[in-house]
Amino acid sequence: MTSLVDPRRAYVSVMRTIRGALQRTGALKLLDARTDRRWAHWARSQFAIYDFEDLAALDSPWWSYDSIDEVDAWLGDRTDIRAFEWGSGASTIWLLKRVDELISIEHDAEFANSVRDISGVGENLLTIEPTTSSNPAIPSGRKGHDGLDFSDYVNAIDRFDGSFDLICIDGRARTDCLRKGLERLAPGGIVVFDNSDRERYASALNDNELQIETHRSWAPALPTKSSTSIVRPIVSSTKGAS
Ligand SMILES: C[S@@+](CC[C@H](N)C(=O)[O-])C[C@H]1O[C@@H](n2cnc3c(N)ncnc32)[C@H](O)[C@@H]1O
Repeated sequence: MTSLVDPRRAYVSVMRTIRGALQRTGALKLLDARTDRRWAHWARSQFAIYDFEDLAALDSPWWSYDSIDEVDAWLGDRTDIRAFEWGSGASTIWLLKRVDELISIEHDAEFANSVRDISGVGENLLTIEPTTSSNPAIPSGRKGHDGLDFSDYVNAIDRFDGSFDLICIDGRARTDCLRKGLERLAPGGIVVFDNSDRERYASALNDNELQIETHRSWAPALPTKSSTSIVRPIVSSTKGAS
């Protein structure tokens, strides 16, 4: 027998109700003032789940906290960082403040407009919707995405010259984005691959030419721990040697 209640929807709905109550009593403002502390950031973000504007104000990508810290440390004092992301959102806002150039690809036109309105990313956010196909060359394994081809979305990186120091994969057709992204990663660059614990990504990540550093921890706007991996190609010193 299937359950009549979708647990995710139920969680969002409960959080919205509590947010309304906290807003009315002024408690939300008190929590907002403490979000420099991780516990308060996490607690506040639970009320921002699937509310892009609210999450955007919290200045953090929707990745595990430990991976955010790692990427932040990697960015450090680096300058001239060129970044590319598949899957826009709160990460777009966070990255725009920290990199010199960001290209973002989004498959959902309505969501892309919200991100453009709030982030100021402008034309560097491209909306690339999937096409319908009975035999998609690049499908998405996500529920409800049968008959959709994400080839244009994945190949959008080919519209840009040069290499990227930071590539974030957090949208659709992630394993194909990984394959494409690795071809365009600058030497010393990193790929951020979110939700890397999903079974459907395992074979692409289980590649002995890749160094995978998985950060499983609490994450903003999620009630459970989540995994985000930092992927680097293994550079063999003997490669090319005769
Ligand atoms: C996991 S989200 C990408 C999140 C983004 N990289 C970030 O850090 O916020 C993957 C896709 O979900 C959709 N999405 C992101 N945030 C959303 C929100 N608040 N509400 C509805 N859909 C959202 C977008 O289509 C996005 O490409």
